[in-house]
Amino acid sequence: MKTLTTVGEMQAAAAGVRSLGRTIGFVPTMGALHEGHLALVRRCRQESDVAVVSIFVNPAQFGPQEDYLNYPRDPERDTELLRRESVDILFAPLVEEIYPPDYQTYVSVERVSEPLCGRFRPGHFRGVATVVLKLFNIVQPHRAYFGRKDAQQSVIVQQLVRDLNLPIEIVVHPIVREPDGLAMSSRNAYLRGEDRQAALVLYRSLGRARELIERGERRADAVLREMRALIEQEPRARVDYIEVVDAASLQPLARIGGRTLIALAVWIGGARLIDNLLVEETPDGFRFHL
Ligand code: PAJ
Repeated sequence: MKTLTTVGEMQAAAAGVRSLGRTIGFVPTMGALHEGHLALVRRCRQESDVAVVSIFVNPAQFGPQEDYLNYPRDPERDTELLRRESVDILFAPLVEEIYPPDYQTYVSVERVSEPLCGRFRPGHFRGVATVVLKLFNIVQPHRAYFGRKDAQQSVIVQQLVRDLNLPIEIVVHPIVREPDGLAMSSRNAYLRGEDRQAALVLYRSLGRARELIERGERRADAVLREMRALIEQEPRARVDYIEVVDAASLQPLARIGGRTLIALAVWIGGARLIDNLLVEETPDGFRFHL
């Protein structure tokens, strides 16, 4: 595995791979890698000739009161994990390489950035869209891999690719969970003591939603009421939002049907956790992606 740190080196490497007619698969990350990231890496490794992973904690997607400075970082461990997955290139630039002092261009994907996390993290998705577009221009991938854990992010990236005619296939991978159901996240490292157990309330509330839908409930407000009641039984939890939305437009739905996303963001102690359940209506009933 080669580690590259400059835009020039990465673009030259990508041009070399492309000139040989080989395909580039790309997994953008902020590091502190876990099995969720590694699932994307393995799929990327299988589906492309050359696998590129980036590690870049992107300051543009953190609000002024957010955890940019404390975000978990462990470059040595991450490098070793990626080496073991036979990744070809690790792209790990410094902040100044991506945002030099005179930097001034940002890209906003408009409507799908507004609801859900967009309401609670102003500017976050503008930072995500900007860095993802920059990374695409630097890595020049044929395919890029994103996790459905960050469902809104994956919708925004798909919209960005369509709107700006980027010749890149976006692959969205299922949520990877701990054995007890907690969605894996670098921010789970913030869960101290009893917060770890309390964090299961997100998964349990989504499981409850699934049960209700399996029993025939279609009213979004009824599902949301039960989820909220379950979460409010956990004194360590504070809800940012729980919503039932259309999985493509992210606009609220009154009834569950078609492709429905049930998404939530909940604070557990000092950790803001997100999770979701994708419900797909098929000719022979509902399919649940939890
Ligand atoms: P990060 O949080 O490091 O996540 C990198 C990728 O891993 C994202 O596509 C995310 O959805 C995916 N991922 C994280 N946890 C997962 C899980 N439990 N199961 C499946 N996939 C999971 O998301 C970002 O970084 C950044 O916003 C980034 C896209 C790199 C732009 O800075």
